[in-house]
Amino acid sequence: MNNGIIAQKQETSTEVAESESVTECEEIEDEESCFQEIEILLEHGISLADINNLKKNGINTIKGVQMCMRKKLTEIEGFNKEKIESLKEICCQISLSNAFMTASEVSFQRKQLFKLSTGSKALDKLLGGGVEAMSITEVFGEFRCGKTQLSHTLCVTAQMPGPNGYIGGKVIFIDTEHTFRPNRLKSIAERYHLDENTVLDNILYARAYNSEHQSELLNIVGCKLHEEAGVFKLLIIDSIMALFRVDYSGRGEIFDRQHKLGQMMSRLQKISEEYNIAIFITNQIASDFKSPDLATRPVGGNILAHASTTRIALTKGEGAIRIAKLLDSPDLEEAEVQFLITSGGIDDVKD
Ligand code: GTP
Ligand code: MG
Repeated sequence: MNNGIIAQKQETSTEVAESESVTECEEIEDEESCFQEIEILLEHGISLADINNLKKNGINTIKGVQMCMRKKLTEIEGFNKEKIESLKEICCQISLSNAFMTASEVSFQRKQLFKLSTGSKALDKLLGGGVEAMSITEVFGEFRCGKTQLSHTLCVTAQMPGPNGYIGGKVIFIDTEHTFRPNRLKSIAERYHLDENTVLDNILYARAYNSEHQSELLNIVGCKLHEEAGVFKLLIIDSIMALFRVDYSGRGEIFDRQHKLGQMMSRLQKISEEYNIAIFITNQIASDFKSPDLATRPVGGNILAHASTTRIALTKGEGAIRIAKLLDSPDLEEAEVQFLITSGGIDDVKD
């Protein structure tokens, strides 16, 4: 299922160990595949035209139908209340056997989740192993604190084999601040002795120009993840709030902004679960110089705070040192570590 992108280029003395873990990983992915294509709805009386309309709206799997609210389905061409009820009922029947699982099964599934290295062992440890699949990890902090550097480092490390039989995968990068730099990726690839052209070829890049465009790009992401199932492992948005802050200004528009933001975050969460990928977003902090308390707070309010599974605050240290503080996680304690920004990306502070 996974094309083992970078792993193919790295066949060394570890070849045997890696190929064993590749097989193990493929077995796990096949076994746990949640990609029940909506084409199977044909066998249940749903027409091809309706299936194509669902696909046009980014719904490609049975899980995708279940994740979509009825009121959203009414916006799709050809779907009236009756048809939606019948569609929901069919999907419910199809997924009846896997609607619930035991806590032991959840525990097993969680142990299989891949984790992507940040480039710093200390930061990986803070995150319980790295940036986790099927969830949203958010880093926030002031300018130059390393958010984009961390994003670039993950673009490379996501392509490398890792624990739990992870064999590496492709990356999608949505850039809202025009700070994506292939040159940085080349020097990070060099650090890991990877072929720089392959590394660049494995990253799909899109520039978002406004918050609506950012949202439209997610539709394309959904299709891409479906078309190339299991190939992409990481989606980065650098930064999540920049365009929302420009497009919605003042108190009068805050409700609208938060509503749209909430929809986008919910979409991201669903994408991460449906396609088993890690989502990494960066965020800015408020610039309220009158109240210093506010000036260290991430923007996006409660909506973003609740939607991000894991939140990390970054601050500047001396020189190239940066401090990462884990603030919000469902299963990790609050703690902080130091890391370094180097030409090879994020690294550990050497003693
Ligand atoms: P904003 O996007 O402005 O909010 O900041 P950010 O948090 O995204 O900052 P970014 O990750 O871009 O980090 C910028 C810092 O990384 C600056 O201090 C740069 O000097 C440093 N930096 C960028 N490239 C290199 C490099 O090749 N080597 C080293 N050592 N540092 C670098
Ligand atoms: Mg940046």
